[in-house]
Amino acid sequence: MKGIILAGGLGTRLRPLTLVTNKHLLPVYDKPMIYYPIQCLLNAGIRDILIVTGGEHAGDFLKLLKNGKHLGIRHLEYAYQEGEGGIADALKLAEEFADGGKICVVLGDNIIEGNIKRAAGAFFTQASGAKLLLKEVPDPERFGVARFEGEPPGGRIVEIIEKPKKPPSHYAVTGIYFYDQDVFGMCKQLKPSGRGELEITDVNNAYLQRGDLTYEILEGWWTDAGQFESLHRACTYVAEGGANHAESVVGKS
Ligand code: DAU
Repeated sequence: MKGIILAGGLGTRLRPLTLVTNKHLLPVYDKPMIYYPIQCLLNAGIRDILIVTGGEHAGDFLKLLKNGKHLGIRHLEYAYQEGEGGIADALKLAEEFADGGKICVVLGDNIIEGNIKRAAGAFFTQASGAKLLLKEVPDPERFGVARFEGEPPGGRIVEIIEKPKKPPSHYAVTGIYFYDQDVFGMCKQLKPSGRGELEITDVNNAYLQRGDLTYEILEGWWTDAGQFESLHRACTYVAEGGANHAESVVGKS
């Protein structure tokens, strides 16, 4: 399985920091943010990675990551997203890289404590479709949120709602997704949402309608780092407990 890290967007919620660099190159405690999703994939045994980025500072990724060998990446590719058309718009650029195989997509500002290796293994044996990782959070209105029939972990997801004013549960859809090759066709069918983006939540709902979506509850802490409050939380979590708590291959080099 190949891995795709989505690190485009303008990072407007972190201005003025993101006026001078890409959001995913900002420090999270002692490492650049992008190191954490890379480590997340490496811990799952995924060593062929595409980074989709964009904006004025895209070239800085090369300075930091080079060909990725020093970080334990076997094969590193880059793609450039024009504008910030949304997560599903960025994902479209990965079709050739995926080459008809299954993929694991990680949002570049998502950081986890644990290891997704078991979930990756389960998806590898899943015949088709998609798998989501969910996490119970106190502030679900900031995320895509699952509505269930029955209680998780046994309950069935019936709908995913993007940033609901009245969340139907406390289970957020984290930015770690597993998809089969049909995801690219689905991305091409999407229409921009109210915020003008191609939404990954619409893709996940399309898999749900096909009856081809599974989920697991993510163990350990999870946070995004896309706003000052969550960036601060990410730094604190990492400082206190470490992230991706299998051995850190991605050091400080
Ligand atoms: O963090 C998990 C949440 O991420 C999910 O619960 C939501 O369903 C999902 O929509 C997303 O929500 P956000 O509004 O927080 O996403 P954001 O716009 O901050 O983008 C997250 C990452 O996706 C960002 O760090 C880089 C990548 N991205 C985003 C956009 C808009 C791109 O690569 N290109 C883009 O155009």
